[in-house]
Amino acid sequence: SGELRKLLESRIRDVPDWPKPGVVFKDISPLLADPVAFAALVDALAERCAGRVDKVVGIEARGFILAAPVALRARAGFVPVRKAGKLPCATHAQSYELEYGSATLEVHQDAFGAGDRVLVIDDVLATGGTVEATIDLIRRAGAEVVGVEVLLELGFLDGRARLAPVLPDGVLESFIVV
Ligand code: PRP
Ligand code: MG
Repeated sequence: SGELRKLLESRIRDVPDWPKPGVVFKDISPLLADPVAFAALVDALAERCAGRVDKVVGIEARGFILAAPVALRARAGFVPVRKAGKLPCATHAQSYELEYGSATLEVHQDAFGAGDRVLVIDDVLATGGTVEATIDLIRRAGAEVVGVEVLLELGFLDGRARLAPVLPDGVLESFIVV
Protein backbone atom coordinates (compact mmCIF):
# COMPACT_ATOMS: atom_id res chain seq x y z
CA SER A 1 0.00 0.00 0.00
CA GLY A 2 0.98 3.64 -0.22
CA GLU A 3 1.18 3.85 3.57
CA LEU A 4 3.65 0.98 3.74
CA ARG A 5 5.73 2.48 0.96
CA LYS A 6 5.87 5.83 2.76
CA LEU A 7 6.92 4.17 6.02
CA LEU A 8 9.68 2.17 4.32
CA GLU A 9 10.87 5.15 2.32
CA SER A 10 11.17 7.24 5.47
CA ARG A 11 13.48 4.62 7.01
CA ILE A 12 16.02 4.48 4.16
CA ARG A 13 18.77 7.06 4.32
CA ASP A 14 20.94 8.46 1.53
CA VAL A 15 24.68 8.45 2.18
CA PRO A 16 26.48 10.61 -0.39
CA ASP A 17 29.90 9.55 -1.72
CA TRP A 18 29.90 6.08 -0.19
CA PRO A 19 31.54 3.64 -0.79
CA LYS A 20 33.18 5.95 -3.34
CA PRO A 21 32.80 9.53 -4.63
CA GLY A 22 29.73 10.06 -6.80
CA VAL A 23 27.75 7.08 -5.44
CA VAL A 24 24.75 7.76 -3.20
CA PHE A 25 24.46 4.73 -0.92
CA LYS A 26 20.99 3.64 0.22
CA ASP A 27 21.33 2.67 3.88
CA ILE A 28 18.54 0.46 5.26
CA SER A 29 19.91 0.42 8.84
CA PRO A 30 17.16 2.78 10.13
CA LEU A 31 14.49 0.47 8.65
CA LEU A 32 15.99 -2.64 10.25
CA ALA A 33 16.26 -0.85 13.59
CA ASP A 34 12.55 0.06 13.56
CA PRO A 35 10.56 -3.03 14.65
CA VAL A 36 7.32 -1.75 13.13
CA ALA A 37 8.84 -1.00 9.71
CA PHE A 38 10.94 -4.19 9.66
CA ALA A 39 7.95 -6.38 10.56
CA ALA A 40 5.73 -4.64 8.01
CA LEU A 41 8.27 -5.23 5.27
CA VAL A 42 8.77 -8.90 6.16
CA ASP A 43 4.98 -9.45 6.32
CA ALA A 44 4.49 -7.83 2.93
CA LEU A 45 7.31 -9.82 1.31
CA ALA A 46 6.01 -13.10 2.78
CA GLU A 47 2.39 -12.37 1.82
CA ARG A 48 3.29 -12.16 -1.86
CA CYS A 49 4.81 -15.64 -1.93
CA ALA A 50 2.98 -17.62 0.78
CA GLY A 51 2.06 -21.11 -0.35
CA ARG A 52 3.82 -20.87 -3.69
CA VAL A 53 7.52 -21.23 -2.89
CA ASP A 54 9.69 -24.04 -1.60
CA LYS A 55 12.85 -21.98 -0.93
CA VAL A 56 13.67 -18.36 -0.29
CA VAL A 57 17.13 -17.27 -1.47
CA GLY A 58 18.90 -14.42 0.32
CA ILE A 59 21.85 -12.73 -1.40
CA GLU A 60 24.83 -11.96 0.83
CA ALA A 61 24.95 -9.79 2.79
CA ARG A 62 21.94 -7.53 3.17
CA GLY A 63 19.63 -9.95 1.37
CA PHE A 64 20.18 -12.46 4.20
CA ILE A 65 18.60 -10.09 6.70
CA LEU A 66 15.36 -9.84 4.75
CA ALA A 67 15.15 -13.34 3.27
CA ALA A 68 15.53 -15.41 6.45
CA PRO A 69 12.48 -14.00 8.28
CA VAL A 70 10.46 -14.16 5.04
CA ALA A 71 11.35 -17.86 4.66
CA LEU A 72 10.09 -18.55 8.18
CA ARG A 73 6.84 -16.64 7.61
CA ALA A 74 6.30 -18.37 4.25
CA ARG A 75 7.07 -21.83 5.69
CA ALA A 76 9.80 -22.20 3.08
CA GLY A 77 13.45 -23.16 3.44
CA PHE A 78 16.20 -20.55 3.40
CA VAL A 79 19.14 -20.80 0.98
CA PRO A 80 22.11 -18.42 1.09
CA VAL A 81 23.77 -17.22 -2.10
CA ARG A 82 27.22 -16.22 -0.89
CA LYS A 83 30.27 -14.30 -2.00
CA ALA A 84 33.08 -16.56 -3.30
CA GLY A 85 34.93 -18.83 -0.90
CA LYS A 86 32.40 -18.89 1.94
CA LEU A 87 30.42 -22.07 1.29
CA PRO A 88 32.04 -25.33 2.47
CA CYS A 89 30.61 -27.91 0.02
CA ALA A 90 30.55 -28.24 -3.78
CA THR A 91 29.22 -25.04 -5.40
CA HIS A 92 28.14 -23.44 -8.63
CA ALA A 93 29.93 -20.10 -9.14
CA GLN A 94 29.02 -17.07 -11.25
CA SER A 95 31.00 -13.85 -11.70
CA TYR A 96 29.30 -10.52 -12.35
CA GLU A 97 29.95 -6.78 -12.57
CA LEU A 98 28.75 -4.47 -9.81
CA GLU A 99 27.88 -0.77 -9.87
CA TYR A 100 31.28 -0.51 -8.21
CA GLY A 101 33.79 -3.34 -8.88
CA SER A 102 33.20 -7.01 -9.71
CA ALA A 103 32.52 -10.14 -7.67
CA THR A 104 31.65 -13.83 -7.70
CA LEU A 105 28.61 -15.45 -6.10
CA GLU A 106 28.18 -19.12 -5.20
CA VAL A 107 25.44 -21.51 -4.17
CA HIS A 108 25.71 -25.07 -2.91
CA GLN A 109 25.04 -27.56 -5.71
CA ASP A 110 22.66 -29.48 -3.43
CA ALA A 111 20.81 -26.44 -2.10
CA PHE A 112 17.57 -27.23 -3.95
CA GLY A 113 15.35 -30.20 -4.69
CA ALA A 114 14.68 -30.81 -8.40
CA GLY A 115 12.09 -28.30 -9.61
CA ASP A 116 11.98 -26.34 -6.34
CA ARG A 117 10.08 -23.05 -6.69
CA VAL A 118 12.37 -20.28 -5.50
CA LEU A 119 11.84 -16.69 -4.38
CA VAL A 120 14.91 -14.43 -4.54
CA ILE A 121 15.17 -11.52 -2.09
CA ASP A 122 17.65 -8.66 -1.91
CA ASP A 123 17.62 -5.15 -0.51
CA VAL A 124 18.52 -3.19 -3.65
CA LEU A 125 18.30 -3.75 -7.40
CA ALA A 126 20.87 -1.50 -9.05
CA THR A 127 22.41 -2.63 -12.37
CA GLY A 128 20.83 -6.09 -11.95
CA GLY A 129 24.13 -7.95 -12.14
CA THR A 130 23.76 -9.48 -8.69
CA VAL A 131 20.25 -10.78 -9.33
CA GLU A 132 21.18 -11.97 -12.83
CA ALA A 133 24.07 -14.04 -11.43
CA THR A 134 21.79 -15.41 -8.70
CA ILE A 135 19.13 -16.48 -11.21
CA ASP A 136 21.81 -18.25 -13.22
CA LEU A 137 23.04 -20.11 -10.11
CA ILE A 138 19.53 -21.22 -9.12
CA ARG A 139 18.80 -22.55 -12.61
CA ARG A 140 22.12 -24.36 -12.79
CA ALA A 141 21.24 -25.98 -9.46
CA GLY A 142 18.03 -27.36 -11.03
CA ALA A 143 15.43 -25.07 -9.48
CA GLU A 144 12.90 -22.55 -10.86
CA VAL A 145 12.83 -18.83 -10.06
CA VAL A 146 9.17 -17.89 -9.47
CA GLY A 147 9.77 -14.50 -7.89
CA VAL A 148 12.35 -11.79 -7.33
CA GLU A 149 11.53 -9.23 -4.66
CA VAL A 150 13.65 -6.23 -3.76
CA LEU A 151 12.99 -3.46 -1.29
CA LEU A 152 14.44 -0.73 -3.46
CA GLU A 153 14.89 -0.47 -7.23
CA LEU A 154 17.27 2.17 -8.62
CA GLY A 155 15.31 2.77 -11.80
CA PHE A 156 17.93 4.98 -13.44
CA LEU A 157 20.38 2.03 -13.56
CA ASP A 158 17.99 -0.07 -15.70
CA GLY A 159 18.36 -3.36 -13.82
CA ARG A 160 14.80 -4.25 -14.79
CA ALA A 161 15.64 -3.98 -18.49
CA ARG A 162 18.78 -6.06 -18.03
CA LEU A 163 16.75 -8.83 -16.36
CA ALA A 164 13.88 -8.76 -18.87
CA PRO A 165 15.47 -11.36 -21.19
CA VAL A 166 15.90 -13.88 -18.35
CA LEU A 167 12.73 -13.23 -16.29
CA PRO A 168 9.10 -13.57 -17.40
CA ASP A 169 6.87 -10.46 -16.98
CA GLY A 170 5.63 -9.88 -13.44
CA VAL A 171 8.29 -11.97 -11.72
CA LEU A 172 10.32 -8.97 -10.53
CA GLU A 173 8.65 -6.85 -7.83
CA SER A 174 10.00 -3.87 -5.94
CA PHE A 175 8.45 -1.86 -3.10
CA ILE A 176 10.12 1.45 -3.87
CA VAL A 177 11.48 2.73 -7.17
CA VAL A 178 13.76 5.76 -7.19
C1 PRP B 1 24.53 -4.26 -3.16
C2 PRP B 1 23.06 -4.51 -2.89
C3 PRP B 1 22.69 -5.53 -3.94
C4 PRP B 1 23.63 -5.19 -5.10
C5 PRP B 1 22.88 -4.51 -6.21
O1 PRP B 1 25.24 -5.31 -2.57
O2 PRP B 1 22.88 -5.04 -1.58
O3 PRP B 1 22.97 -6.85 -3.50
O4 PRP B 1 24.62 -4.29 -4.58
O5 PRP B 1 23.76 -4.14 -7.25
P1 PRP B 1 23.57 -4.59 -8.75
O6 PRP B 1 22.09 -4.65 -9.03
O7 PRP B 1 24.24 -3.50 -9.53
O8 PRP B 1 24.24 -5.90 -8.93
P2 PRP B 1 26.82 -5.34 -2.42
O9 PRP B 1 27.40 -6.11 -3.55
O10 PRP B 1 27.31 -3.94 -2.24
O11 PRP B 1 27.11 -6.20 -1.13
P3 PRP B 1 26.44 -6.33 0.33
O12 PRP B 1 24.99 -6.66 0.18
O13 PRP B 1 27.22 -7.45 0.91
O14 PRP B 1 26.66 -5.02 1.05
MG1 MG C 1 23.96 -6.89 -1.61
